[in-house]
Amino acid sequence: MNEKEFKIRLDKFLVDTFVGTRKQVKTLIKQKRVKVNQKIITNPDFNVFTKEDEVCLDDKVLTFQEHYYFILNKPSGYVCAKEDNINQTIMELFKSLPSHLVEKLFPVGRLDKDTEGLLIVTTDGIFNHLVSSPTHHIQKTYYVEYEEQLLDNACEILAKGLKIKNESFLPAKLEPITKNSCYLTICEGKFHQVKKMIHQVGGVVTYLKREKIGELVLPQNLALGEFLEMKQDDIYRLMKIYKKGN
Ligand code: URA
Repeated sequence: MNEKEFKIRLDKFLVDTFVGTRKQVKTLIKQKRVKVNQKIITNPDFNVFTKEDEVCLDDKVLTFQEHYYFILNKPSGYVCAKEDNINQTIMELFKSLPSHLVEKLFPVGRLDKDTEGLLIVTTDGIFNHLVSSPTHHIQKTYYVEYEEQLLDNACEILAKGLKIKNESFLPAKLEPITKNSCYLTICEGKFHQVKKMIHQVGGVVTYLKREKIGELVLPQNLALGEFLEMKQDDIYRLMKIYKKGN
């Protein structure tokens, strides 16, 4: 799957590549600092083809992207929301990016405030919809630490799927590590799902970290609170999801 080609006005191209605000980019164009295919263009309404044309600012080539994808190693203490009156949000961890881009970003699904680990943050609403859709059953693996002891047949209970009060959970894979830690792989994203499932088989979760979504693994060298940009092709491939027409 390759980035689509768009025909857009030069000033919009510059705004969308985070060169500046509409007013600022118009000034740059007037100052003759912008070239399209090696030619200075002074008309902000000039049409640019995003894949075919080479747009430069002061001889630096600008690359247009329809959407942005980041993976964040979420620290505890941040909520997965765009805004929150009480808590710090994961958006605050993206302060080094242009504010114009941060405004368009949102988290794909949610991790609890006290959960750490792999979170995808994107501008792509279709991707969010596909990854979050229950029909896709994308597997998510969590590293779990817990108090108390799990039932001897915890693996079998979780592998069958279960019902807690009125809520059903699809089969999950429990892999014990030590007496008080395990991996749990689930294919849904229900509220407090891991905590509820572990509780149902005798444990009380004390630490939770998401390590994998689909084939995407949290890089070991990505520190808590740091993020990494991913390419569209890679992230769709790792999620094994395909857009119509690609
Ligand atoms: N399950 C939970 O209980 N919490 C999370 O943050 C994610 C999955």
